[in-house]
Amino acid sequence: MERRLENKVAIVTGGGTGIGEAICKKFAQAGAKVVVAGLPEDPVDDVAREITEKGGIAFGFQGDLSLLSEARACISETIATFGKLDILVNNAGVFVETNYLTDYSEEAFDYMIKNNIKTTFCMSKAALPELQKTKGNIITAGSEAGVLGIAKNTPYGGTKAFNTAFTKGLAAEQAAFGVRCNVVGPGPIDTAWTHKETGPMDEQMEKTNSQANLLGRNATPEEVANVYLFLASDEASYVTGALYMVDGGITIAKGAVGEQADEFFKKQPADNLELKHGKEGHTRIRLSAKPMVEYYEYL
Ligand SMILES: NC(=O)c1ccc[n+]([C@@H]2O[C@H](COP(=O)([O-])OP(=O)(O)OC[C@H]3O[C@@H](n4cnc5c(N)ncnc54)[C@H](O)[C@@H]3O)[C@@H](O)[C@H]2O)c1
Repeated sequence: MERRLENKVAIVTGGGTGIGEAICKKFAQAGAKVVVAGLPEDPVDDVAREITEKGGIAFGFQGDLSLLSEARACISETIATFGKLDILVNNAGVFVETNYLTDYSEEAFDYMIKNNIKTTFCMSKAALPELQKTKGNIITAGSEAGVLGIAKNTPYGGTKAFNTAFTKGLAAEQAAFGVRCNVVGPGPIDTAWTHKETGPMDEQMEKTNSQANLLGRNATPEEVANVYLFLASDEASYVTGALYMVDGGITIAKGAVGEQADEFFKKQPADNLELKHGKEGHTRIRLSAKPMVEYYEYL
């Protein structure tokens, strides 16, 4: 495997599960020293241990990164351990309730703001002094929902639109200090969120997810991590302020197009990364899990 992140130090928030686990493992394979950062109940130490057992370098950091004090502690521990910081991945996020806005709880709204928006704000703010020293970069998780909006979880789409505009604004501001900032916009990805057993989706929604994108299936977490790897690496030296969609074309699809996709596209690539927590996610704090059938009928 090519060592595209040799000598780089990266923090990945939400690194214990799903896409974050894949980013941590991908970055470690590429030679980065990785801080697997997540909530106290997340399996961050497990992911760090797996990386270390395979010859990589990593440690787990447990904390609520929506609190500036804990975000600062994460940066301090990274500097104390690895001496510098080159890459911040703002991947942490939650998808807690599916409801019409008339029924949507204020508690879920606040929770979404805290974990999707404030994590990005606190971690970026705390990391920037270090990233300015190394001429590093930030990559933030947006979403197709941050571009299109999403029915029956309107606040979620709003938080992802915030992350997108916030990170583009940072790119404009931080070029003066040598820091690149970009956004990745995943479509439906094969994590806890997109399975009826572990997330807020019912059977029909699961099925319609793959019908609504041009390639006829969900992406693997690794397929998203591949794009993070490119943006984090020096190969992306002229890329800043960009939004890279990894959505199987869902943002340009019109109607149920997935069934028409070539069989070649419909087959998920063989995983190279062993993900243990890919479909565990943050499901235990989900506030309600009402079906989103209407949204997918609308698509
Ligand atoms: N899965 C999808 O289909 C999809 C689609 C579009 C965007 N995304 C985005 O990708 C990112 C990862 O999603 P995933 O599907 O891998 O979900 P996931 O639940 O597996 O991962 C999210 C992680 O973030 C952690 N986290 C949440 N709040 C935190 C906080 N305050 N401090 C520290 N850690 C915190 C969670 O505990 C969890 O481990 C999210 O930002 C999500 O919005 C996912």
